[in-house]
Amino acid sequence: MNNKKLVFSGVQPTGNLHLGNYLGALKNFVSLQKEMDCIYCVVDLHALTVFQKPNDLQNNVLETVASFVATGLDPNKSIIFNQSAVSGHAELAWIFNCVSRVGWLNRMTQFKDKAGSDKEKASVGLYIYPNLMAADILLYKATHVPVGADQKQHLELSRDIAQKFNNDFNCKNFFPLPEPLISKNISRVMSLRDATKKMSKSEESDYSRINLKDSADEINKKIKKAKSDSSSIPDNLKNLEKKPEAYNLINIYSEISKKNLDKVLKEMSGKEYSFLKNKLAEILIDEIIPVGKEIKKLLSDKPYLVQILKKGTEKANIIAEENLKNIREKVGLI
Ligand code: TRP
Repeated sequence: MNNKKLVFSGVQPTGNLHLGNYLGALKNFVSLQKEMDCIYCVVDLHALTVFQKPNDLQNNVLETVASFVATGLDPNKSIIFNQSAVSGHAELAWIFNCVSRVGWLNRMTQFKDKAGSDKEKASVGLYIYPNLMAADILLYKATHVPVGADQKQHLELSRDIAQKFNNDFNCKNFFPLPEPLISKNISRVMSLRDATKKMSKSEESDYSRINLKDSADEINKKIKKAKSDSSSIPDNLKNLEKKPEAYNLINIYSEISKKNLDKVLKEMSGKEYSFLKNKLAEILIDEIIPVGKEIKKLLSDKPYLVQILKKGTEKANIIAEENLKNIREKVGLI
């Protein structure tokens, strides 16, 4: 077996990426790019599992690519492409639909959350979403998958599928069992209005999140209005952990300033939250505004973004076709 490490990750084309995407995924992608071969895929087929307006979907795919590049992903180094352009994803997903078990999918908590109370009305695609995700990863025989903690269960399913395929078709080690890369210090970036929820594009209030395209003024206002705490900043982690809103702000400060939590607490303990908020707004503006500017600049040159996807697609297709040839053979397809 080839022991080379290969990173694969997928990002849904939601458009309007925010600080949670930036700290939780994009920055991590950029640092992995320095160490390993990486494939970053905009998963437009996954997006179809809930209805998308076709024009919005197109724009959101391009905006996601712009956000990748603006954050520092290098299209000459990493493979950047959109899922639907490499038809192998859909083909392997079908094969995996036949390897994966109904009982396995029935355990997926994300389906239960997303389908809500009326499961009969969810698309079939939403139900088999994790099989497509396994296909994304295994089509390239990727070994490492940077994901948020919420995707851990899907990744375990990918491993189960890989293992069952290897067993069923008598080809031990054919598919690697992909490992999740869940970055330790990026505990989740939470909503600025309710720190029990993840920062999310779908929360109604725009004050709940810092968007990568926000102006300095907006960042300032949002941080000033963020929920915190009436007492002063605690001097130890244990007490901080009891205050989710304060914890969230300190955690974001720690991530952006690259100082660990203990160091930040030393700097901040006993101070008012307004002190933290001023500093936080300042460093966020320094970090986010250039990224936002770059996204906007890239979005004004759509042909360039399309070109990046095209080049990435060509490179991805070569690996995918080579692997698919072997997969078809193993399964007995002529
Ligand atoms: N399900 C992932 C998410 O919502 C996106 C995704 C699709 C993905 N395919 C993938 C992530 C493959 C990692 C690897 O975040």
